[in-house]
Amino acid sequence: MPEPDEAVVAQTGPYQVELTEGQEYWYCRCGRSKKQPFCDGSHQGTSITPLKFTADRSGTFNICGCKATDDEPFCDGTHNVI
Ligand code: FES
Ligand code: FES
Repeated sequence: MPEPDEAVVAQTGPYQVELTEGQEYWYCRCGRSKKQPFCDGSHQGTSITPLKFTADRSGTFNICGCKATDDEPFCDGTHNVI
């Protein structure tokens, strides 16, 4: 079992998702959600909380699946070195 305060790798690469400008999303920071890359409440019992963000344009985005990015919620390539 992973430590309750540690994020787990959901996928060692980004999720390509369509986002809509102006819409709010909840990025899963814990890696436990079954609705990646978005939060489904599975962080309950951990000290990790999701990140709310608003899409600044409509289009396709690479959202981090490894949960180790330094540019949440976006993939910054860190998954290549984990
Ligand atoms: Fe996490 Fe790329 S998927 S940095
Ligand atoms: Fe991962 Fe909510 S399920 S942050």
